[in-house]
Amino acid sequence: MWIDLDRQAAAPLVTQLYGAIRRQILDGTLAPGRRLPASRELAASLRISRNVALEAYDLLLAEGFVTARRGSGTFVAAGATFPGVGEKPPPPAVAPLHMGYDSPPGVINFRPGTPDLGMFPSRLWLAMVREVLALPPQKILAYDHPEGRGELRQAICDYVVARRQVVCHPEQVVITGGTTQAINIVCRLLLGQRREVVIEDPITRDIRSIIASHGGRLHPLAVDGEGLRTELLPEHLAPAFVYTTPSHQFPCGAVMPIQRRIELLNYATRSGAYLVEDDYDSEFRYEGPPLGALHGLLPERVVYIGTFSKTLSPALRLGYLILPVPLVEQGRSHKWHSDLHNEVISQLALARFIDQGHYLRHLRRMRAHYRQRRNEIVATLKELFGDEVDILGSSAGLHLVARFPGRTFTGEFFAAMERRGVRLYAVAAHAIDPETHQDKLLLGYGNLDPTDIRRGLERLADSLRARQQPGDR
Ligand SMILES: Cc1ncc(COP(=O)(O)O)c(C=O)c1O
Repeated sequence: MWIDLDRQAAAPLVTQLYGAIRRQILDGTLAPGRRLPASRELAASLRISRNVALEAYDLLLAEGFVTARRGSGTFVAAGATFPGVGEKPPPPAVAPLHMGYDSPPGVINFRPGTPDLGMFPSRLWLAMVREVLALPPQKILAYDHPEGRGELRQAICDYVVARRQVVCHPEQVVITGGTTQAINIVCRLLLGQRREVVIEDPITRDIRSIIASHGGRLHPLAVDGEGLRTELLPEHLAPAFVYTTPSHQFPCGAVMPIQRRIELLNYATRSGAYLVEDDYDSEFRYEGPPLGALHGLLPERVVYIGTFSKTLSPALRLGYLILPVPLVEQGRSHKWHSDLHNEVISQLALARFIDQGHYLRHLRRMRAHYRQRRNEIVATLKELFGDEVDILGSSAGLHLVARFPGRTFTGEFFAAMERRGVRLYAVAAHAIDPETHQDKLLLGYGNLDPTDIRRGLERLADSLRARQQPGDR
């Protein structure tokens, strides 16, 4: 029996010896019925301790590779041959799932929707986590309930009732892994006999893709400077739900006025559709009075989705659903089937963060921070492009849209910009009907510092000037 042991290897000698014999049995080198050397003999020939040999034989015996007959020795068992169990294959050529937002290091990335990660309140968060970890283990480390911790649901409920004019009880709140999981739960809840979904166009590509993956049939409805064009709502349709971002349309940035909100609510009542209100970045409003959520106007027909991805960090994966009462039980059940419940320590840390007033202070600070950054990017756009550019949707959120009438931004343009070290995004990429959005760039500024914003926009200006030469458009 030829066995090679590597005394420098990380794997213990027992594991190596067991593995080598196991391989030889599987590939048939050691045939069924063959007698293995006595442990003492094997130990001597390999210059290992007898205990190592005995332990390896014990493992093989426990797994059925060998049989032991008292007095006569250890034999290869019948039925343990399985040739072709090869070496570890080379790693599969699977690329990471391409979400379309990564860029090589050093590239100025105008990715929308990421908050300023450097402003995350790490010290306070750590203090909250420390407080939570001091609680009895039974309260923080056990299996918990799908709807999420009562402390956090209460804190969220107090916040949305006071600040967003939402009308709800904590029992209606389900804590989710961000908006993304909330939408999955909504689809499972609402896509039954009705499978039609009216959706703003453009809207985040990812949201469309999730709804379609649940079998939802998308009916795009155009948006304008006041959000969803409610006069286009299809009367013949009876959709399961209408998906809308009334506080800050994504990506075009409109804030929906009350008249359209009421038309939307009337449509929901007429058609029996639910309204799914994605309130992803309403906390950051820089101009005009804050409009409350759609939810408060007709709580029984609106499913409200909130997230902490924009106000704190997308890596926390913490968001919430506020469900009309008849949907609560089923909603909790879908959350349970999806992932049992959100991680508990972060839920409790966040509940404390809100209860102790840190959240509102953080929002105030971040609002001032983003307002300043918004002012800078708007000023830079005006300085560099003058009346060549229309700026849309800059009154709220972490992104705006720059429209360059008469231009068409092609894939080739975006690739060329990336070679110049700037990653830009097309509004058209989020549109079901891209035709009318070819002249619009989506500029996320939440996680970019002002120097990079200026440098990125200067390179854009250079490229656009170069492209103005005849034949290059
Ligand atoms: C319209 C919209 N809603 C919600 C989100 C946030 O998703 P999540 O809460 O899953 O991080 C995004 C992310 O960019 C978004 O664009």
